[in-house]
Amino acid sequence: MENRFAVILAAGQGTRMKSKLYKVLHPVCGKPMVQHVVDQVSKLHLNKIVTIVGHGAEKVQAQLGESCEYALQAEQLGTAHAVMQAAPQLEGQAGTTIVLCGDTPLITSETIDALLSHHVHTKAKATILTAKANDPTGYGRIVRNEEGHVAKIVEHKDASEEELQINEINTGTYCFDNAFLFEALKQVSNENAQGEYYLPDVIEILKNQGEIISAYQTENFDETLGVNDRVALSQAEVIMKKRINEKHMRNGVTIIDPQNTYISAEAEIARDTVIYPGSMIKGKTVIGEDCEIGPNTEIKDCIVGDSTVIRQSVAHNSEIGQNVNIGPFAHIRPQSSIGNDVKIGNFVEVKKSKMGQGSKASHLSYIGDAEVGADVNLGCGSITVNYDGKNKHLTKIEDGAFIGCNSNLIAPVTVGAGAYVAAGSTITEDVPGDALSIARARQVNKEDYVSKLKLNHNS
Ligand code: UD1
Ligand code: CA
Repeated sequence: MENRFAVILAAGQGTRMKSKLYKVLHPVCGKPMVQHVVDQVSKLHLNKIVTIVGHGAEKVQAQLGESCEYALQAEQLGTAHAVMQAAPQLEGQAGTTIVLCGDTPLITSETIDALLSHHVHTKAKATILTAKANDPTGYGRIVRNEEGHVAKIVEHKDASEEELQINEINTGTYCFDNAFLFEALKQVSNENAQGEYYLPDVIEILKNQGEIISAYQTENFDETLGVNDRVALSQAEVIMKKRINEKHMRNGVTIIDPQNTYISAEAEIARDTVIYPGSMIKGKTVIGEDCEIGPNTEIKDCIVGDSTVIRQSVAHNSEIGQNVNIGPFAHIRPQSSIGNDVKIGNFVEVKKSKMGQGSKASHLSYIGDAEVGADVNLGCGSITVNYDGKNKHLTKIEDGAFIGCNSNLIAPVTVGAGAYVAAGSTITEDVPGDALSIARARQVNKEDYVSKLKLNHNS
C-alpha cells in the first residue's frame, strides 16, 4: 500500500474560547479534543502522524505523548503555514496526507477512511470533506462551478453576500497528494480578511493547475462540528455523550436516563450493569457485570468488580471488588482497595486504605491510612486518628476484629486478629489478638444526686 500520513493542526490559542486552557486541550466527555482526533486517526495505522503545536506546545505534547510526531509552529500565521511546518517530516514523499483540525473532536475513523477511499478512487490530488450545515456561520464555504465541481473554498470573513448563502461547508478535514500539497503551500498568500495563510487556498491553486479536486460530503454534520467557543463545546459534549451512551447500551448496559448520565470516552462497563440518573463515570474506570451505579454517583479512575452496588456516592482512583455495597453518601478517596463482599454504608469516608473481604463499616466512619483485614466490623462512628498535625500514621486492624461504636484508634496502632474494642474507647496502644480492650472512663452513678442538688437550690 502507498504511504499514508496525517497532519493534525493544534497550534492555535483558541481566542474565542476565552480561556487559560489552550483550545485543543479542552475536554469533551473528559478527553481533550485533540486526543479524540489523534485516537481516531491512530485507528487507521498510518505511516506517520505529525501534530502541529504552538500555543501550549509542551502541554499538548505532554497530553499526546508518543502517539505522534510533532512540528513546532512558533508563530500562528494560518492553517497553510501550520501544515508547512511538517515539511521536514513529509515534504517530497510520495503518498497521501490527511489533514485534520485538533478542534473537531467528533470526527470518526470511519468517516476519515471513507474520505480516503473516495480520494483514492477519484484519483484526485485533493479531496475535501464537506457537510451541509443548518447554520454555516463561521465555516469556510464550498464554492462549486457550473458543472458542480469544487472551484474554491472561501472563508466566512472573506465571503460575498452570495457566498454566505452557501450551506455546504469545509469541515477542515482533507486528503492531499503529499508532494503536490507541499508544492502548492509555497504559493499560498496571506492577502485576505485575516491576513493569514489559509490552507483551503491550496484547493484553488491545485484547481488552477488543472489537477483533479474532489469533495466527499458526509451526511453527518455532527461529526464535523468545529469547536471555536464554549457554545460549540457544549454541543460537542452533547453529541459525544449520546454516542458514548448508545455504545454502552448496545453492549448491554442499561442507562435509565441517558441525557443525565455522563460516561467518559475511556470507561468500560460490562453487560447487565444498570446506571441510574445523575451518574458520572469518569477517566479510565472499568465496571464489571450486574452492577448498580447511582443515582447521583461519581466514579473516577476506579476498577469495580461484578455485582457491586454504589449509590449516591463518590469514588476516585481506587479498586473496588465484587459484590460490594457502597453508600448512600459514602466517599472512597484515592488509593483505596475495597475487597469483595465489603459493605461501606452512609457517611463513611475511606482514604488510602485497604479493606479485606467481608469487612463492614456501615455508618459514620473515617478510615484513613488503614489496613483492615477480612471480616472486620467497624461499629458506627469508628475513627482512625491518622494525623498528628504533621504526619500520617498507619492503623492496622487484623482479621475478624470487632471495633465498638464511637471508638478512636490513634495511629500508629494495631488491633490484633479477633480482638474486641469496647464502644467509646480511645485506643492508644496495640491491642493483642483475641483480647478485649476497654479504654474509656469508668461509669460512676451517684445515687439520688439530682434530688440533693435540687434541694440545695431551693433552700
Ligand atoms: C478552519 C477553516 C475553515 C473550516 C473550519 C472547520 C482555514 C483558514 N479555515 O476555520 O474553512 O470551515 O476550519 O472547522 O483553515 N491552527 C494552527 N495554526 C494556525 C492557525 C490554526 O495550528 O496558524 C489550528 C488551530 O489550532 C485549529 C485549526 O488549526 O485546531 C483550525 O483553526 P481555526 O482558527 O479554528 O480555523 P477556523 O476559523 O475554524
Ligand atoms: Ca475551528
